[in-house]
Amino acid sequence: MYFVNWQREISIVELNGEKVVVKRNKLSKNLHDYLLSITYTILSILLVHPSAPPELGSKLTLNEGFKMREKLQQMGIPTPSLISLTSALLIEDFIVGGNLYEALSRGRDSSLARSAGSITGRLHRSGYSFIDNKSQNYLVTFSGKVLRTDLAFIQRKDSIFARSMDIGSFLASLLALDCKRYKEIEDAFYSGYQTEVKSNIPYISIILRNILGFGLSLSSNWVNNILQNPEKLMSYWRKFGFSIESP
Ligand SMILES: Nc1ncnc2c1ncn2[C@@H]1O[C@H](COP(=O)(O)OP(=O)(O)OP(=O)(O)O)[C@@H](O)[C@H]1O
Ligand SMILES: [Mg+2]
Repeated sequence: MYFVNWQREISIVELNGEKVVVKRNKLSKNLHDYLLSITYTILSILLVHPSAPPELGSKLTLNEGFKMREKLQQMGIPTPSLISLTSALLIEDFIVGGNLYEALSRGRDSSLARSAGSITGRLHRSGYSFIDNKSQNYLVTFSGKVLRTDLAFIQRKDSIFARSMDIGSFLASLLALDCKRYKEIEDAFYSGYQTEVKSNIPYISIILRNILGFGLSLSSNWVNNILQNPEKLMSYWRKFGFSIESP
């Protein structure tokens, strides 16, 4: 099982008879935040959508706070209840079904990805982006409700690039699944997203998916899944005036 978790040490403990999750920053967290932020800007330049790096520092802690969770709740985005927060440590409710990647790879219904799609769409409709939107940042309750955790990188950005980063990073985190399963999940995510955002899926989200998938889902399925839909990518290329001629 692939488990992405490189920023914080996660432990599950009992507090007043309830299970809670304690997230303690690793020493390397600042460096990782910085790398993520720089990668965002480098990719945006490479894809000709230059974008300023996401804000770091105290903003990351504020984003995990009560106010942000309340704001997300009003947008229709549920999060685990926050118990305590400092710049080095966060305690929130334990969500029993684990993260969405684990749930989907264990065979739970692909409609869970639809919920992640509508959560992403709701955030975009409100003018924000998650930036780090991998499926491991969603949690699933016992009854199948999908919640969003790891809120640190939320930014007030609604550019095509920022939105594509969310779609691309979500799909990239699932490329390791087998082709048929991946396609089912991708369709479910898109359908959830498009119930909230009426415009088309930006073409650079597919390019970002393929690039980010290299880091997030390194496996032979990654290659099969990116090659699964070449016509779509080609049609985007043609739309933007590129042509690929046979020799
Ligand atoms: N409230 C929770 N209940 C149950 N499991 C959780 C909860 N919060 C986090 N987890 C588990 O811990 C993993 C990592 O959590 P989180 O994304 O918050 O940490 P992180 O170190 O910031 O991760 P990364 O930087 O790698 O995205 C999640 O993918 C999930 O499996
Ligand atoms: Mg995370």
